[in-house]
Amino acid sequence: MTRARVAVLGIFAADLTFRAARLPKLGETLLADGFSLGSGGKGSNQAIAAAKAGAYATLITRIGDDAFGQMARDEWAGAGVDATHVIVSPDEPTGAAFIFVDARDGQNAIVVNGGAAAALSAADVTAARGAIERAAVVVAQLEQPLAAATAAFELARAAGVATLLNPAPAAPLDDAVFRLCDVVTPNESEAELLTGITVDGEDAARRAADRLLARGAGAVLLTLGEKGALLHRPGQSLLVPAFDAGPVVETTGAGDAFTGAFAVALAEGRDLAEAARFGCAAAGVSVTRPGAGRSMPLRAEIDALLSA
Ligand code: RIB
Repeated sequence: MTRARVAVLGIFAADLTFRAARLPKLGETLLADGFSLGSGGKGSNQAIAAAKAGAYATLITRIGDDAFGQMARDEWAGAGVDATHVIVSPDEPTGAAFIFVDARDGQNAIVVNGGAAAALSAADVTAARGAIERAAVVVAQLEQPLAAATAAFELARAAGVATLLNPAPAAPLDDAVFRLCDVVTPNESEAELLTGITVDGEDAARRAADRLLARGAGAVLLTLGEKGALLHRPGQSLLVPAFDAGPVVETTGAGDAFTGAFAVALAEGRDLAEAARFGCAAAGVSVTRPGAGRSMPLRAEIDALLSA
């Protein structure tokens, strides 16, 4: 079977993850219970998630000519991500992230720097035009410059390719950006920043999603952590429950697992509700494993959970 094509614009980051009982206060040094170095960055995570979920996934990004850049290449090769449109910036570092994981419940807090990918430009996107036009779905987030994302979505729109924005990390956006998005996938805090509505339950999630539709998005998938995701669009509002695939080890990258797998299902022609179930199943598996890029499930694992 020909694999559906997904093009992802975004950053790679080497995730330096510290597991500790709590965040240190300013000026304090705290001993961590554990440390790991792994592959991250929302764009890279989503491309890996898409490739492992069965798509031909192309990543458009920039990395440095350094050890973390080599780590990125190794991760993409292992997951089957097409890195043809990865540009190496010899004078800039590869992106990196500090990740605190709460040893009590696996929740995280992140500080990320895109490094070379912070300079991703509309011209870089234009250079990858062929990959965008051949894709069924184009995905972007907000860790790279917004101008690169809008350039990718404008090319996609002109070619009849679906556009999916994961508005993370949260940032104020003009309505013109939402009008370029067929689907947006915010989490609760991102939806709150974009709408001014505190998402503290299903009703509030619906009101926030309505606001995003009014701002121009075609459909909203508002991820609600362990509750699942709200699919909301004109004429349809549906809570898609989360999947329990085992004890939660770490939630880093769960949103990326959802977005990457959801993009694959859309690219394969599934309807939004089925695609959301597919995304929720992928996220359900990912939280049972440590790390971000490395936690993305294989297609067979997603299918097995869906049919359990
Ligand atoms: O979504 C999780 C990701 O956010 C991490 O992998 C980290 O690198 C940051 O980009």
